[in-house]
Amino acid sequence: TDSVGAAVDAFRRGQPVCIHDAADREGETDLVYPAGAVTPDAVARMRNDAGGLVCVALGNEVAAAFDLPFVQETIDHPAAADHDLAYDDRSSFSITVNHRDTRTGITDTDRALTITALADAAADPAGTDFAGTFRAPGHVHILRAAPNLLADRQGHTELGIALAEAAELPPAAVVCEMLDDETGEALPPAAARAYAERADIPYVEGAELLDRFD
Ligand code: 5RP
Ligand code: ZN
Ligand code: CA
Repeated sequence: TDSVGAAVDAFRRGQPVCIHDAADREGETDLVYPAGAVTPDAVARMRNDAGGLVCVALGNEVAAAFDLPFVQETIDHPAAADHDLAYDDRSSFSITVNHRDTRTGITDTDRALTITALADAAADPAGTDFAGTFRAPGHVHILRAAPNLLADRQGHTELGIALAEAAELPPAAVVCEMLDDETGEALPPAAARAYAERADIPYVEGAELLDRFD
């Protein structure tokens, strides 16, 4: 199969994929999991092998059902007045949450619980008491996908949700940027590709996903 097919298959099996967005966007490769498959070991892999921020992307309709805003639009603070991003029109950040059964929220087991519960919530918004299940703020960043997904925005947020949809999974995907331990910069694509090969994880370019799904 091609790399998009391999990525969809991996997602369907609950396995991670590496997604590089675009050289002229963030130029980042995220390690991406279907949220429902995230174990404490997967959280450990994200913080050790990727090193970025662990976030859960949710589909726009699911986020709307739970009243999860774009933080930039709702926060009443001058720092949020002009978002001024170098690589996109706006960020996809929503609020941060912890599952109510966590203690500190940051441990691998706590974050895995919060993340899998977000996948359950995405699978059944009508049957979920969001505020009864999660507290905010917390240690897992929610990202809200754009209303028309890839037609509106081509971030890892939307790419992850498109992959979940293609794999016929609930619209919940975990993303974490891969950083370079030597330089502290985004891990260059060639190094990300080499990691993916070593770890037997499909590596896919955002442009390939856009070609297939857009
Ligand atoms: C949150 C981020 C990441 O880049 C993540 O991939 C989501 O952002 P985007 O949809 O803009 O790519 O900054 O850690
Ligand atoms: Zn990104
Ligand atoms: Ca980023």
